Amino acid sequence: ASGSYKSYINGQWLRSCSNKVVTITNPATRKEEFKVQACTREEIDAAYEGCTEAQKIWRQVPLWKRAEALRKVASVLREQRDTIAECLVNEIAKARKDSLSEVDRSADLIEYCAEEGIRLLSKGDFLTSDAFKGTDRTKLCLSSRVPLGNVLCIPPFNYPVNLAVSKIAPALISGNAVLVKPPTQGAVSGLHLAQCFDKAGVFPKGLVNFVTVRASENGDYLAEHPSNNCLSFTGGDVGLSLAKKVGMIPIQMELGGKDACIVCSDADLDLAAKHIIKGGFSYSGQRCTAVKVVLVEGEVADQLIEKVLGGVNKLTVGMPDDNCNITPVISETSANFIEKLVMDAKEKGAKFLTEYRREGNLIWPCLLDHVRPDMDIAWEEPFGPVLPIMRVSNTDQAVEHANKNRVALQSCVFTKDIEKAIKISDSVQSGTVQINGAPARGPDHFPFQGFRDSGIGSQGIANSIGMMTKTKTTVINLN
Ligand code: G3P
Repeated sequence: ASGSYKSYINGQWLRSCSNKVVTITNPATRKEEFKVQACTREEIDAAYEGCTEAQKIWRQVPLWKRAEALRKVASVLREQRDTIAECLVNEIAKARKDSLSEVDRSADLIEYCAEEGIRLLSKGDFLTSDAFKGTDRTKLCLSSRVPLGNVLCIPPFNYPVNLAVSKIAPALISGNAVLVKPPTQGAVSGLHLAQCFDKAGVFPKGLVNFVTVRASENGDYLAEHPSNNCLSFTGGDVGLSLAKKVGMIPIQMELGGKDACIVCSDADLDLAAKHIIKGGFSYSGQRCTAVKVVLVEGEVADQLIEKVLGGVNKLTVGMPDDNCNITPVISETSANFIEKLVMDAKEKGAKFLTEYRREGNLIWPCLLDHVRPDMDIAWEEPFGPVLPIMRVSNTDQAVEHANKNRVALQSCVFTKDIEKAIKISDSVQSGTVQINGAPARGPDHFPFQGFRDSGIGSQGIANSIGMMTKTKTTVINLN
């Protein structure tokens, strides 16, 4: 419901002594409907102190009990699915059915993480010294994974629940404490997630904290804090500057993607069109993994475009409550940025296959043909329902364009020739290449990583557990 929400620090719901709030605008109504606390540096210090004390207890809790605690959270989250989905609808204008599936997917992720954690963290290594030249069997080395301490989790607005738990659950199963800084838009959903951890009633006080701040004032303070032992961040370019500031701690970052879709002349064009529509326009294109540019071989371009256009014309446009395919984008700033890219393409001669239309933050799906490299939209992520199509003479040209993208998260290739698909996959330098399917992070246990400015480290459940732990060895000397 609309209103003012408290932060969750050290097991307490807290109104900040700053007496300042951060306001959240519903993207659909464009009215300020929610307020969250603008926490102070002292409150951030208190949250980290809580983390540090709680982590001393939590790291001693047997692994099976940590897994059980996570399962309990997953079950509370399932009970709260309608309430949290309602927050997503109102805060980030995600269609209700997609909001519900974000919550369900998050509960599944937590449960999977509990199982995977048991499997991965119960195993270690055993080495004997006599394998190394000149050494007798006088040393036995046991190694295992131990927690890092406190993990700062910063999820983005587009998946404020799922991308929060994809950081929190691996951190907790590994024996860490967490401080979560929810995105401004998505903070209320995040605080409802905090309530699930609170309601589960199974964690030491202070182990899980949700601290809302004004990022411009205290974002760096949170990240650079001496008690922060690990940063898991998903978001925009601000991640690049954070990476330089945090110092010698493990970092995991995903900072967006200009995901290219290469369509070869021998592709199944119905299949390609279906994936381009879903990949390009789900959640109005506001996914790091959305198809952000189509590179199609000229000889099949007209046929492909006809099929894509047919699908685009069927997309419903309207409000998230009505489960429309295309809903208002996150903010007016974002809508203005999208419009700027569209107008730049128009001035430079792109062909509009659909009429450009905008009402407030609602932008109708827009398909642009004959996009050329001198247009900004060939390189920038609109993060909206706008899809540029570039006609290429051959796949080498497509690969060359894809490899010039600054944010190389995922890409995809459509062809019936598996050998060609593998060759293209080998030459495209992005974190993931999907063959005959649209880019996607899910299923959530798959490795997920960006190349170049798109990020550092690899996510996915097992990789996150690996990144949120460090190797500890004990050597037994036989004298
Ligand atoms: O926005 C990035 C991403 O995490 C979206 O997830 O599974 O819809 O590709 P997915």
